[in-house]
Amino acid sequence: MSDELKILFIGDIVGKPGRKVLSYLMPGLTEKYKPDLVIVNVENIAGGFGITVKTYRELEDLADVFTSGNHVWDKKETLENIDGMQKLLRPSNIHPSLPGRRYKILKVKGIRVLVTNLLGRVFMEPVDDPFRTIDSLLQEVEAEVRIVDFHAEATSEKEAMGWYLNGRVTAVIGTHTHVQTADERILSKGTAYITDVGMTGSLDGIIGFKKEEVIEKIVYGIPKKLEPCKENLHLNGVFIKCDLEGKAHSIKRIDEVMKD
Ligand SMILES: [Fe+2]
Ligand SMILES: [Fe+2]
Repeated sequence: MSDELKILFIGDIVGKPGRKVLSYLMPGLTEKYKPDLVIVNVENIAGGFGITVKTYRELEDLADVFTSGNHVWDKKETLENIDGMQKLLRPSNIHPSLPGRRYKILKVKGIRVLVTNLLGRVFMEPVDDPFRTIDSLLQEVEAEVRIVDFHAEATSEKEAMGWYLNGRVTAVIGTHTHVQTADERILSKGTAYITDVGMTGSLDGIIGFKKEEVIEKIVYGIPKKLEPCKENLHLNGVFIKCDLEGKAHSIKRIDEVMKD
């Protein structure tokens, strides 16, 4: 059907193992799903924490838009260089004086697609109200298709955002917890929703990091330098189809394994 839009959204890429999986699996995913638009969350691409210019450039050609999250400023160079990273979004509900893009509008199949990124506030660092932020953004910007990456910890806050935006946006896609949830569905007024899309990295670690180090940190409370785990690499995402007025028709979970 040509009167529909196909969107591939891929969850948080964790460090070098995550970048490797994305590069390795993307040609096959493109062939299989033939997406009109690819969005990838990159808040963990550089060693698991933040984004560097080098790691951004490595992935730049693999997606149309890159979203981020609470780790966006973990690498000092990001503040200085984010304006030059044309496809990258920073969360829209942080201090307005900060650099970077709050949203992107792309022209796809003759229609406007808005992509934006919001941070949650429950069990996270304080930020501006994501509900009021998205309300004003939707008033400010016109687009037929609207995709929201809601980067948040609490399931309740994520479901609240899904239902709050039901019928007003095409998709509310949860990121940040790195564990894919099985609650993908189309809400009553045509909004595709999933609490968490999952991550792209190792499923033999703890949210993508070497388990021994995370266990030691949790059990003994001793700060540890966490490193991305390399074993059992997966790519997590969702594939969404919507009409050209922005109503979602289907959402399908993706969990692909990288076989050496
Ligand atoms: Fe993440
Ligand atoms: Fe995060």
